[in-house]
Amino acid sequence: MAATFAKTGLAACVHLGRGVSIIELALPNAAKAAKPGHLISLQRLNPAGEATSACVVLPVFGVSPVAGARAEKLQVLVPRKHADLIAPLWPGQDVQFGAFALSGQAWDLDFAGFDALLLVGENESAAHLVMLAQHLASGKAHELTLLAGAETREAMPWFKLLSFLSDAGVSLMPAAPDGSFGHRGEVFDPLVSELEAGLARDKRIGVIAAGSLAFVHRAAELARDRGTLCYVLPTDRFGCGKGLCGSCELPTQDGGALRVCSSLALVSAQEVDWPKFSLS
Ligand code: FES
Repeated sequence: MAATFAKTGLAACVHLGRGVSIIELALPNAAKAAKPGHLISLQRLNPAGEATSACVVLPVFGVSPVAGARAEKLQVLVPRKHADLIAPLWPGQDVQFGAFALSGQAWDLDFAGFDALLLVGENESAAHLVMLAQHLASGKAHELTLLAGAETREAMPWFKLLSFLSDAGVSLMPAAPDGSFGHRGEVFDPLVSELEAGLARDKRIGVIAAGSLAFVHRAAELARDRGTLCYVLPTDRFGCGKGLCGSCELPTQDGGALRVCSSLALVSAQEVDWPKFSLS
């Protein structure tokens, strides 16, 4: 998608704690076009319209009002590491952003071969899976589970906003090692339990993992060891989000490379040449 630039104000901002916020931007065209897999590039502008921050690539979290032709606002999760994008902020402040048209690639959503899909993410990377879970839930064709791992409950304050997913039939499974957030331990524990329980019932299961390269590799190994397909989204490698910088590139088994942000579908872990990375 071509990168066009638009100025927009802040329609709403919800501070969720620990420097994490959800912002709403009045970008009706982008909100109508937003699909799972899309990213948006934002930078802060001063009153003269000049950029005062670096351009950062963030996941589209949702649209408001929820989905459809009436969608007018784009919801974007601003993680703690990009909190400067909206700070300082006070009531009535006129905050302006420069927004580039949606980037990333809307995912090719043909999961017809699966009975159940396990979406697993760590920290803010799990936000990349929210629109996908919502989209899939509307089709009612799969059992859906969203597993989210964080260090503590406080590290993932936006998870409490996902009741609309459980209302739509998505099972939500948080996990944190300190026991403050669902399962006490790694999110891979419930991932393995869900995988094995589904396989024992002869379900055709797919795993979609979003997070650091090490995280998605671990999810892919756990899936592979159980004969299950895994798609990976290594979100910590996103730079430009537009297919230009090469930072998200994954080497493939056939000697090629895939730019994750602009590939035509989620990347199958089987295609990736993992030994090219030093991962344990
Ligand atoms: S993030 Fe720059 S090419 Fe994908």
